[in-house]
Amino acid sequence: MQLPQQTAPYLEALTSYAFRDPTRFHVPGHKGGPGADAGLRHAMGEAALTLDVAQGIEEIDVGPPPTPYDRAETLAADLYGAQQTWFLSNGASQGNHALCLALAPEGAEVVAQRNSHGSLVDGLVLSGGVPHWVAPEYDDDLGMAHGVTPDAVAAALAAAPDARAVFVVSPTYYGMAADVAGCAEAAHVAGAALVVDQAWGPHFGFHRGVPRSALQDGADAALTSTHKMVGSLTQSAMLHVGDTDRVDAERLARMVRLMRSTSPNSLLLASLDAARRQIAIHGQDLLGRTVAAAASFHGGRLAVADDPSSPHLSADRITAAVDVAGAIEDGSATTEQAGLLDSALTGAGVEHTVEFYPAHHGFAVPDNPTYDAAAEARHWEALGRLYRDHLGT
Ligand SMILES: Cc1ncc(COP(=O)(O)O)c(C=O)c1O
Repeated sequence: MQLPQQTAPYLEALTSYAFRDPTRFHVPGHKGGPGADAGLRHAMGEAALTLDVAQGIEEIDVGPPPTPYDRAETLAADLYGAQQTWFLSNGASQGNHALCLALAPEGAEVVAQRNSHGSLVDGLVLSGGVPHWVAPEYDDDLGMAHGVTPDAVAAALAAAPDARAVFVVSPTYYGMAADVAGCAEAAHVAGAALVVDQAWGPHFGFHRGVPRSALQDGADAALTSTHKMVGSLTQSAMLHVGDTDRVDAERLARMVRLMRSTSPNSLLLASLDAARRQIAIHGQDLLGRTVAAAASFHGGRLAVADDPSSPHLSADRITAAVDVAGAIEDGSATTEQAGLLDSALTGAGVEHTVEFYPAHHGFAVPDNPTYDAAAEARHWEALGRLYRDHLGT
């Protein structure tokens, strides 16, 4: 981090303009509040309306470069390790649309994860790009789709040698992160750029308990939906392009503008600047507190010998207190696995409990045939104790 991340130039410029009570010969027509419905004024508060100003105001986003707006985006780029970052006022959806227009123009072949967000599909509809779908891993135990593997990316590119871009999602809506570094390598070997929809991971890379960010792992472009996890206002997000020169930043900038209103909302933009400052300065601490306690009840395959992706191998990244309760006769959580997990957590200095309840897998779910009222009560009690002790609730 080299730039002054403790500053928030756009927020500060907006605040100093709006609160010095200028005569407003510009939109929006509510003129900072007086022209708005009284109910709206009451509900939103005077300050929100005062800060709702148009684009194109000297000292905010017009004037000798870099304007405060330029500086706000540069700070975000610096923080995320990007060559360039754009503030998005139409969500990560706007980013997916722009990326498709830039990287998948009409007739161009791309590889895309089959369970991508609808905005990626909409982006391809808009751009006319031709997707070769790559299937995610499917977890039969959990009944959910995860991310794509590097091998799947490599195979999809072998079947579509003209594809110059690969679109993957990490983490998924369910929180499962992909091997982004492996996917980047597979894409780059085939001469394609890797784009990661990291809508659900704007906090990745800011604490050792969460995965590295997509750009840190070698992605060429990444989307972060700042409003989802990092505290900006709904509909605000960021698009980052890496230093790798596999994505044409100038063309992408044009597409970002094309998919945006000419009147981006100042409250959204200010909230992005503020959220960037918050995660830069307090992210480590906030994330440390967020992952203060973790519990798993009848969770399986937490410590599998000889599996290089087994969760217990990441024990040294755990900063939370951990409580794991398995069920007897559960093939996916055996005593051998419990022993392995226990020693990994002990070795990493993690405060933890690993135990077995005398009940069968699924004991806490009332409509399961294996439901066990005593075990259910015990697990609620254990969870409450864990939260009281570590979260203060
Ligand atoms: C993976 C993914 N990408 C993109 C989006 C779109 O984000 P936004 O709602 O910020 O437009 C979503 C929204 O849920 C998402 O889950």
